[in-house]
Amino acid sequence: MTAYDAFLADIYDHSPYFCQGRTRELDRFNAPYFRHLEGRSKSVLEFGSGTGMLTIPLATRGYGVTSVDNSPDMHDVLGAKLRDVEPQVAGRVEQVLADALTYRAPEPAETIVMPEGILIALPDRALQRALLESCHRNLAPGGRLMTDFFQPRFDLVHRDELTEFTRFRTPDGRAYLMTMRLRNDRYTQVQHWTATYAELAGGETVREVVVEVPFRYLTASEIELLLELCGFRVVELDTEYADRRGFFLVAEKT
Ligand SMILES: C[S@@+](CC[C@H](N)C(=O)[O-])C[C@H]1O[C@@H](n2cnc3c(N)ncnc32)[C@H](O)[C@@H]1O
Repeated sequence: MTAYDAFLADIYDHSPYFCQGRTRELDRFNAPYFRHLEGRSKSVLEFGSGTGMLTIPLATRGYGVTSVDNSPDMHDVLGAKLRDVEPQVAGRVEQVLADALTYRAPEPAETIVMPEGILIALPDRALQRALLESCHRNLAPGGRLMTDFFQPRFDLVHRDELTEFTRFRTPDGRAYLMTMRLRNDRYTQVQHWTATYAELAGGETVREVVVEVPFRYLTASEIELLLELCGFRVVELDTEYADRRGFFLVAEKT
């Protein structure tokens, strides 16, 4: 079972805290990937493809993408989007339901992309290291890893626990009151999100769904160290990404 089940997969692109911000400014979030991909092979391996926020823009620009994700529900959302694009574009994407930690590409990749947080979605350091080792194993010599992920909520680090409320509507008209309970574990560096989605209709709650997701946050120095331990050299680490809420990084297999 993955945390990214049918409900979260369905609501992911529109939900605050998840992909709502990225959906609204997709080109800006994807821009550093395209800048660093210039002049490189048109074939890309993607880990944690999710709902295809980077997958489809890559395929639209002519890249062949092998998209690995271990959530069948996230694959279903991406699959539905691929049915809505030109067959030529959809034909460039190969969806692979697999664990990125143990995945072995048939050919070493020149580039691996991991958009929006698969690394911090792994809840401990050993798993994060195993993912970076898998990237190293699946890359050709001199190959590059490009990824972005969010920085910790520093206000939460100081307060240990916070509850926030927000309302939003999906494009098909469903209205939600979202209650987000955030807890910080200062020893494991895990920030636990418990999101309660109350679906509203006519002033009543008609359904309530609770989603629990842990994120293990990384500081700039820790990710640099992990990359070095896994056989990478850092090419770029942008700490201003996503209005200073995220990191964008490029690392090369040494
Ligand atoms: C924070 S989301 C990122 C979503 C995606 N990059 C996007 O832009 O829509 C993390 C994604 O990584 C996937 N994931 C988590 N652990 C994984 C693993 N071990 N192997 C493959 N995919 C994994 C989840 O299913 C989810 O789709």
